[in-house]
Amino acid sequence: MCGIIGYSGVENSVPKLIEGLKALEYRGYDSAGIAVFTESGISVIKAKGRIANIEKILDTEYQNLESVCGIGHTRWATHGEPSDRNSHPHGTDRIRLVHNGIIENYIQLKKELSACDYSFESDTDTEIAAKLVDLNYKTSEDPLQAIKTSVEKLYGSYALGIIFDKYPGKIYAARKDSPLIVAISDKGNFIASDIPAVLKYTNRYYQLEQGEIAVVEKDKVTVYDECGSLIKKDIMTADWDVRAAEKCGYEHFMLKEIYEEPLAIVNTIRPRINDGLPCLDLPGLTDDTIKAFKRINIVACGTAMHAGFIGRTAIERLARIPVKVEIASEFRYKNPILDKDDLVIIMSQSGETADSLAALRLSKEHGAHTLAIVNVAGSSIAREADSTLYTWAGPEIAVASTKAYTVQISLMYLIAAKFALCHGKITDDEARQYLHALIEQTPVAVENALKLSDRCIQISEKISGAEHLFYIGRGIDYDIAQEASLKLKEISYIHSESYAAGEMKHGTISLITEGVPVIAICTQDHLVEKMISNIKEVKARGAYVIVICKENTHMDKEVADEVLKIPVLSDLFMPIPAITVLQLVAYHTSVIRGCDVDKPRNLAKSVTVE
Ligand code: F6R
Repeated sequence: MCGIIGYSGVENSVPKLIEGLKALEYRGYDSAGIAVFTESGISVIKAKGRIANIEKILDTEYQNLESVCGIGHTRWATHGEPSDRNSHPHGTDRIRLVHNGIIENYIQLKKELSACDYSFESDTDTEIAAKLVDLNYKTSEDPLQAIKTSVEKLYGSYALGIIFDKYPGKIYAARKDSPLIVAISDKGNFIASDIPAVLKYTNRYYQLEQGEIAVVEKDKVTVYDECGSLIKKDIMTADWDVRAAEKCGYEHFMLKEIYEEPLAIVNTIRPRINDGLPCLDLPGLTDDTIKAFKRINIVACGTAMHAGFIGRTAIERLARIPVKVEIASEFRYKNPILDKDDLVIIMSQSGETADSLAALRLSKEHGAHTLAIVNVAGSSIAREADSTLYTWAGPEIAVASTKAYTVQISLMYLIAAKFALCHGKITDDEARQYLHALIEQTPVAVENALKLSDRCIQISEKISGAEHLFYIGRGIDYDIAQEASLKLKEISYIHSESYAAGEMKHGTISLITEGVPVIAICTQDHLVEKMISNIKEVKARGAYVIVICKENTHMDKEVADEVLKIPVLSDLFMPIPAITVLQLVAYHTSVIRGCDVDKPRNLAKSVTVE
């Protein structure tokens, strides 16, 4: 987590750093800071809280601050509470440094630096890295050498942006296991954690690889490999346009991103259907290799893992291949049973989640084939997997994932059809019918679900005062319940749990008291009767029941307090319109409760630490 930015060019860097930090604020917003070259040396401005606090300081104390080169940081606290003194940049009068990642051996290094008469102002691991660079710079007076010697001593993950007092106009950047790009423009060059930070100025960038060090100047970029040899990098082009990373009139990014779902589904799925059949075009994955897989593991975190649950249901139902869904942070330490007969699907919006990346590397070590399903092009997971499928959702800025989840599950439906065909479980005609429904009907169902926004607001009004809430469902509705519950709790701070509807009576039903809201997802025709029995069980104990069901499902009035009827698709695809309305309910509840929808407390979008 944490976002870093740097600019060296012919224009004032200050507004560029601030804008870049705002675009990176989704990576953390505990504090922010910048360090820029001025005539009197390096000026540092940093403060606890949002970037707006830095803007206030600039407006009042630094009105005429101009500088053509500087670095900036927005923090998600790991070591040390959010505070002014723990804010980045860290360092000394000679060097200033910003960091994303975790220096695991910082305690040992701190002892070594203390023995060299260094003292410390913060509780951060980053300050140790900064002082280590300072020490090596003091002895060598050569920034490159100082960085090289320092990073050799660092254990853990880092993306670093460093400036040295005697080298105005130069930004030094290094990375290992945390993302960092170098972006190129006609008016100067940038470093950044992610593309949206620079999209306003350029879409041309290099991806820094593990161990590489870059020197960024106004009119050139020099990159060295781990051994210090000069290397030439290929320039990549991001095809996200700048408006994709703006709110475009919506009150929040989350709302905008929910409304983008129909198009995101079309962009992700349509190019992958040819003559009505799935066309995945995956390096290393021929029909024969797909046929040879005996097991599938889907490994991911949070919402992406929840998309894996839907993928499991779809693949098992259609292709009859056993699928396990694993939490990446657990999987990576459990010595998983994997071999060449296994396919491991790593699902990730950002493509940088530390635990998912580690799970990917571990799966490769075990000889399994790895398939990444990733939204951010060129991200670490996308680059390291044996095969990669992109979800073309465009940039997702709100911390709560919405459109990325919807396209992940859409892609899983497509993969399920492909695997079912290769394993001879469905015919071409059946696949054509299924894919026709996927591409023609699901985007329309989402459009129609979005029209239920007012009804969602009414439901949000009903639940917004609750302290606890439950989502229940059976089968694929339980898969959806888990994501709906996460969405609500992370942005509205209402304690929410999801349960398999039939499991409530084995313990959890004791938590149901008068008025506790229970949202019952009931979209599977063959499970409606069973769900109604479970709904009656909680209703009899005082629950305030809200049922989400198909438009054509008959629901007696006395079954529920509220019924939200959603567009009808075949049962397997019902999670798509269901999640749209459930995301809207979470969104409006958060708004009603006055929460910071796009930047919920304690969270960051890109979780690059374990
Ligand atoms: C919740 C959310 C997170 C992410 C999780 C994995 O709304 O966004 O649970 O899904 O941190 O992130 P990615 O998909 O980037 O690996």
